[in-house]
Amino acid sequence: MKDYWVRDLSLAELGRRRIEWSRNFMPVLSRILERFDREKPLKGVRVGACLHVTTETAILVEALRRGGAEVNICASNPMSTQDDVAAAMAEEGVRVYAFRGQSFEEYYRCIGYVLASEPELTIDDGADLISTIHKLYYGVESEELKHVREASGDLGVKRLVEGVIGGCEETTTGVLRLRAMARGGRLLYPVVAVNDAESKRLFDNPIGTGQSALDGIVRSTGALLAGRDAVVVGYGNVGSGIARRLRGMGARVTVVEVDPIRALKAAMEGFRVETMRRAASHGELFLTATGNISVIRGEHFKLMRDGAILANAGHFDVEIDKRDLEALSVRRERVLPCVDMYVLGDGRRLFLLGEGRLVNLVCAEGHPTDVMDMSFSLQALSAEYLVRNRGRLPREVLDVPRELDELVAKLKLEAMGMELEELTEEQRRYLASWELGSR
Ligand SMILES: NC(=O)c1ccc[n+]([C@@H]2O[C@H](COP(=O)([O-])OP(=O)(O)OC[C@H]3O[C@@H](n4cnc5c(N)ncnc54)[C@H](O)[C@@H]3O)[C@@H](O)[C@H]2O)c1
Repeated sequence: MKDYWVRDLSLAELGRRRIEWSRNFMPVLSRILERFDREKPLKGVRVGACLHVTTETAILVEALRRGGAEVNICASNPMSTQDDVAAAMAEEGVRVYAFRGQSFEEYYRCIGYVLASEPELTIDDGADLISTIHKLYYGVESEELKHVREASGDLGVKRLVEGVIGGCEETTTGVLRLRAMARGGRLLYPVVAVNDAESKRLFDNPIGTGQSALDGIVRSTGALLAGRDAVVVGYGNVGSGIARRLRGMGARVTVVEVDPIRALKAAMEGFRVETMRRAASHGELFLTATGNISVIRGEHFKLMRDGAILANAGHFDVEIDKRDLEALSVRRERVLPCVDMYVLGDGRRLFLLGEGRLVNLVCAEGHPTDVMDMSFSLQALSAEYLVRNRGRLPREVLDVPRELDELVAKLKLEAMGMELEELTEEQRRYLASWELGSR
């Protein structure tokens, strides 16, 4: 088994400096890291992580290791790894298998290397690691498993599963996949849905992705957002944050939604709400954030204006149908590092950013660190929770315990110099009673 697989170790110094810079914006995770260092709650636990390899992830990994864990990590997206960070982690002795621009085969080989360490705790962003374990266990054959097996060698998957304490999942798409496993009665061990914690999904998804998705678009294209006709597909946690930030930058924003309540919310928050077909005909900038497949597809590309820009903020690169785009195009050219131009039969040009993968991670640097401070604090605390409750939790998708969710919010408020009001005893009683009404 390889000890690491990174692009270029000589980038380590830059990676170290950028990790140190990020530390300044992670006060909550830093406190947890210090406590982990003293208490060693993860002593001897083998952690397998499949996360975007960024500066913030490096600090999460450090926290887990200070807590006593042995960490093996691969990337959760073939294009999101920051190579300098991966190099710095490798030099620190982390078994890291990640580099930007992985092929399909390389991506799954890296998952195989992590599995070869027989993790007792899995930490996913998008559920690729855990779903690979489940496919191997249940004998569900698929193309990628060949590469996983080549890298993992003679993996005793039954033994691996018996040894797993639990898992954590970072994002909405991953949680959806886990719930599908749990519904079918197939989930093999307890998994904490970190994504669903309020101090994650109310901040990371709308605010973190909101800012960083626009950052990705602006960095890769230099486009002015003010006055632009922008279409946001999906008005969930992520999409609503993007739509609000686009409006804040002066864009004219249309929302496309399938859920009537969320569509109504968008309408009442002042957005135009339309079908994808109608929006396709006038939009200049399209951003998908649905976690769903082919939400922009052939029938829509056919209607688009020359020069339309297409980007995705959802977890997988399936939201903008690249196969349809290829099929309709007579030519494709990479015109800028993060921009592919597709020329359609009639000469119209459509510009796809970051190959239709997470625009904020591929064309920029992902969420601002301050936001990841909360998400990764929840990851660290959830890992500790799973280990402390080893053998006692059901094989279900579990919520982050409310006290941990609130603890992260409280620590963040404290770090921001904010104050929290406290309920008086009378107020506590009033809120808990059914007899008391007006005075
Ligand atoms: N880029 C990032 O860094 C980042 C961060 C967090 C989450 N994510 C990913 O973003 C995606 C969305 O996450 P979320 O938390 O907003 O999920 P969500 O469930 O809150 O919202 C998704 C919305 O899309 C809508 N939708 C589904 N199919 C649609 C269609 N065909 N047309 C229009 N709308 C449709 C749903 O009704 C829902 O309102 C997920 O894949 C998630 O994993 C990415």
